[in-house]
Amino acid sequence: MQTAPATNEATPPGWDKARAHAIIDGMKATEGAALPMLHALQEAFGYVPHPAEAMMAEALNLSRAEIRGIISFYHDFRQAPAGRHVMKLCVAEACQSMGGPGVAERLLTRLGIGWGETTTDGSLTVEKVYCLGLCACAPAALLDDVPVGRLDDDTATLLAAEAAGGMT
Ligand code: FES
Repeated sequence: MQTAPATNEATPPGWDKARAHAIIDGMKATEGAALPMLHALQEAFGYVPHPAEAMMAEALNLSRAEIRGIISFYHDFRQAPAGRHVMKLCVAEACQSMGGPGVAERLLTRLGIGWGETTTDGSLTVEKVYCLGLCACAPAALLDDVPVGRLDDDTATLLAAEAAGGMT
C-alpha cells in the first residue's frame, strides 16, 4: 500500500518544481490563497507533492506545519499519487444509517489498506467523502466519478475487482 510520503527529500513522482512555482507564484497574492493553491497543485500533479509545502509556506509566510495541517484537515487533498482508479465511499449521515461505514471497513480490510491508501498493485485508491447528493440511494459511492448507489459488500468487491482487472 502507498502511504503519505515521509518528510525525506526524495523526489516525489511527477514532481516539476517550475510548474509548482508557477502555480504558487501566480496565486500567492490571492486572498485566502492556501486552499485554492492546494487545489491547483492537486489538479496539476494529482496530489500535493511534499516539496510544494515548503514553497507554499515561504510564499504565504506560514510555517510548513501550518501548510501540512491544512492538507491533513481537508480530506480532499492527497499526499501521495492516487491509484489508477479512485473509489470514494460516502460516510455522511444518510449513508451511515444505511450501513455505509460497515461496507467501507470490510472493503478496506479485504483490500488490506486504510482510508486514503492505494492497493499494492496500484489499481485502486479508496477515499472518504461526505455526502455525494445520492442520499436516496444510500449507501453511495463514486468510482472514477461514476455514481454507485445501494452499495453492498458484493458490489464493492466487484468494483474493486474490476478496477484491479484493468477496467478503463
Ligand atoms: S449522505 Fe451519503 S450520499 Fe448523502
